[in-house]
Amino acid sequence: MDKIRIVGGQSLNGTIPISGAKNAALPLMIASLLSEEKLILENVPRLADVALLQRILGNHGVDITVNGKRNGDSPSAGQTMEIDARAIVDTTAPYDLVSRMRASFWVVGPLLARMGQARVSLPGGCAIGTRPVDFHLDALRALGAEIDIDAGYVVARAPRGLTGARIVFPKVSVGATHTALMAAALAKGDTVIENAAREPEIVDLADCLLKMGARISGAGTSTIHITGVPRLRGARHSVLPDRIETGTYAMATAMTGGDVTLAGARADLLESALDVLRAAGAQIDVNNEGIRVRRNGAGLFPVEVSTAPYPGFPTDLQAQLMALMTRAQGRSRITETIFENRFMHVQELARLGATIHLEGDCAVVEGNDHLKGAPVMATDLRASVSLVIAGLAAEGETMVQRVYHLDRGFERLEEKLSNCGAQIERISG
Ligand code: UD1
Repeated sequence: MDKIRIVGGQSLNGTIPISGAKNAALPLMIASLLSEEKLILENVPRLADVALLQRILGNHGVDITVNGKRNGDSPSAGQTMEIDARAIVDTTAPYDLVSRMRASFWVVGPLLARMGQARVSLPGGCAIGTRPVDFHLDALRALGAEIDIDAGYVVARAPRGLTGARIVFPKVSVGATHTALMAAALAKGDTVIENAAREPEIVDLADCLLKMGARISGAGTSTIHITGVPRLRGARHSVLPDRIETGTYAMATAMTGGDVTLAGARADLLESALDVLRAAGAQIDVNNEGIRVRRNGAGLFPVEVSTAPYPGFPTDLQAQLMALMTRAQGRSRITETIFENRFMHVQELARLGATIHLEGDCAVVEGNDHLKGAPVMATDLRASVSLVIAGLAAEGETMVQRVYHLDRGFERLEEKLSNCGAQIERISG
């Protein structure tokens, strides 16, 4: 298994190109199942999760071709993916594939809406809480599907198609909003989704569906209206920049000090996180190229932050913020409100010398300046990158094990950081 070796202590200076968002690319690829015509996606990041979803879609009979860089493209240009779901040969998504990535469960909505049936394994994914799929299933039931659970599989049927309905989510769920949106796009009549997730990735999916001929309004607000259409056509769409990757490198820069431009990043996608970084003492400027993050010499201030659905502070940046706060001058409080078990990085950060104690869903971080390199283990996607951030500031060598978690969500992480002066390398094993 590969490891990442970091020797801490260098500040970061330079430019980091921001890739297309994983959490937008995945539902966009899945949306291809809704149409018999080709969906062309640009700026798709090169990530293990994207490759896995290619396999899952391939299993349904979807034909995918990927074009690399064209002459004149920047070295960081994402992939262009042509996805042709004309012939769906199999409506089953098997356990051995779905169990590796939770988002692959989302094929259930489009398969059911277009084919009238789907058999999808209950999901796996990052071990950050129980993460059930009840909201997805309730939404599909509201649209008229019959749902059974059989031997670890969700078996969904709608032989006469889905029918528009009012769907009220008890809690904001990104995935369930994706499922409802995709299924309702091909349902007969009108659907209203209330308490919908407002994440930018929902808006990106809705924008792509609009190009495919869907009738949707209100994406990006808590109430989304959809009028179903009998079929969707092909389209071309570019994946929006990754706000979590942006926030992660912004925190890495604040952690080490330095001056980094996050090229292609969109500040409007992560205002709450940028506000927290400013409060912590980083200087953030938005320019034509993207976002410039600086911290030169000045110390870091502690913050009190709770994660929340968009536009609040993202749970996917909670671990990275915690790493950053280990160097603040004073006590920070970071409360996790989305997932009940998303503090696995606390133990690993402690191995690097951090002082953090948990009070229920709140982590209290006693800032200190003396992180020291150590072997640590990546536990989930975002937790693992928090260990990288901490390693960049720790004295001496940090070896991060199980980096396949990082490869799921961060494209060319070592290269992007080492180009800015970090001492970081992958050791293949
Ligand atoms: C997505 C993101 C993930 C992010 C999360 C919250 C992708 C690929 N993943 O995950 O990176 O951390 O949003 O911003 O986009 N819940 C239920 N029942 C359900 C569905 C969800 O109880 O049927 C609960 C979850 O356990 C969790 C909360 O709702 O407590 C929010 O989860 P959700 O927004 O659905 O997360 P994902 O879509 O899985």
